[in-house]
Amino acid sequence: MFPSIKWRLAGTYMTIILGTLLLFSYLVFNSLENYYLEEREKTYLAHANIIAGSGQELLLSGDRNSFYWARNYGNTIDARVLMLDKTGKVLMDSFGEPWLEGRTLEHREVRSALGGKSLTGIHNIQNGKRVLYVAVPVLHDKKVYGAVMLVTGLGDIFETLARVESQLISLTLASGAVAAMLSWFLAVLLTGPIKELTTGVEKMTRGKLGVRVPVRSNDEMGRLAKAFNIMSGKLGKVEQTRREFITNASHEFKSPLGSMKALAQSLLESDETDPTVYREFLADIDAEIDRLARLADELLYLVRLEEEGIKVRRRAQPVSPLVERVLGLLRSQAGARKLKMDVQQGLYWPLDEDLTLRILFNLVHNAIKYTSPETGSIKVTAMADGKEMVLRVIDNGEGIPPEEIPYLFDRFYRVDKTRSRETGGAGLGLSIVKQAAQLQDGRIEVINSHGNTVFEVKIPDL
Ligand SMILES: Nc1ncnc2c1ncn2[C@@H]1O[C@H](COP(=O)(O)OP(=O)(O)OP(=O)(O)O)[C@@H](O)[C@H]1O
Ligand SMILES: [Mg+2]
Repeated sequence: MFPSIKWRLAGTYMTIILGTLLLFSYLVFNSLENYYLEEREKTYLAHANIIAGSGQELLLSGDRNSFYWARNYGNTIDARVLMLDKTGKVLMDSFGEPWLEGRTLEHREVRSALGGKSLTGIHNIQNGKRVLYVAVPVLHDKKVYGAVMLVTGLGDIFETLARVESQLISLTLASGAVAAMLSWFLAVLLTGPIKELTTGVEKMTRGKLGVRVPVRSNDEMGRLAKAFNIMSGKLGKVEQTRREFITNASHEFKSPLGSMKALAQSLLESDETDPTVYREFLADIDAEIDRLARLADELLYLVRLEEEGIKVRRRAQPVSPLVERVLGLLRSQAGARKLKMDVQQGLYWPLDEDLTLRILFNLVHNAIKYTSPETGSIKVTAMADGKEMVLRVIDNGEGIPPEEIPYLFDRFYRVDKTRSRETGGAGLGLSIVKQAAQLQDGRIEVINSHGNTVFEVKIPDL
């Protein structure tokens, strides 16, 4: 398993913070150590040089007084003083170790000093103690006569350094702990919204559409949450529309089926023998079958339009023959209603013939259905208006209540809630018109104007 983002974030922060602290402590400790040791070396080099200055006499003249002087000096500066001749043999040891006097020292520092160059070095002696060796040459007339060696303990320095070290460690641990808490908090803050979003997505995956997640900030995460809510809302709407569609479609199919069932049953249950009665009933059943077939056709066509499963072929053509054809088709249904047209002289427009015929047919058919058979008057106009062709179907019928207009183009929507059979289609016509307009980059609008109902379709030039 991979560690979660939260752990990785917190881990990264912690590593960076602790790493910085450790590096910082290391640098502070190191420079402090160097500083102390260098200071100590400088001081004891100076002391050694002072002793070496007076050591000349001892080495040159063998004056024992300078031995005592050097020993006292060594005591006051807390160092062991060794005087060596030019072969490295110990002439005097301020600690007075008898076994050492007369022995020859071979230390690096000693050899360097006898070669004329002062040298210091830090050595570990038994039981982990560290000491500083300082060796300087005893010179006279630029000739080396011997050397002075100082040995001094570094215990005090390393004690101080150990104290500093333990303070630095506690500081590092304390700030590390604070940093751990802060980075955990920050990681939780950063990953919390991710968790909420994930839960949201998981809910959607299980089929619960329209889930919302809280938007907690205005940053990238907040914007993601907002986008998620919008998407989820849209999916929820789509799902709802789909359900409504199925419910409505089933209802529309049920009513003709119900009528057919009733007609067939009454025939079966009666003792009627007259063939003309049978014929009448069968004619009614036939009409219902037509209704069903038309409904199925319209539904299939609408689905194809919405899935853009049909090819749109727009080519420039005269508009008035299209209007004439539709009016011709519907003239018999119009009865006493007046059908007029007013198409701009010589109007040519790039149109898909089939889609445009469907638009005109549905709009004029509606206009006929929803106007009075006696006084009804319907007019189709078309004209170019700049880059658009404006097509209007105007009728003087019952009109449409303004509050219904937003839903008019929804599938299965009918103003007449009783869905009466005489006036009635399924409520698919205007959905088809809208899709047919949009497939030609056009749009449709309904306007109530001076007691007239105007359906206005605008189709742009190519
Ligand atoms: N010209 C109009 N005047 C008044 N109401 C109209 C007009 N055109 C449409 N409507 C109202 O809008 C509703 C939807 O119209 P639409 O064409 O989509 O369905 P329909 O005509 O009832 O059925 P279909 O077209 O599927 O046979 C209609 O039921 C009607 O209430
Ligand atoms: Mg219609």
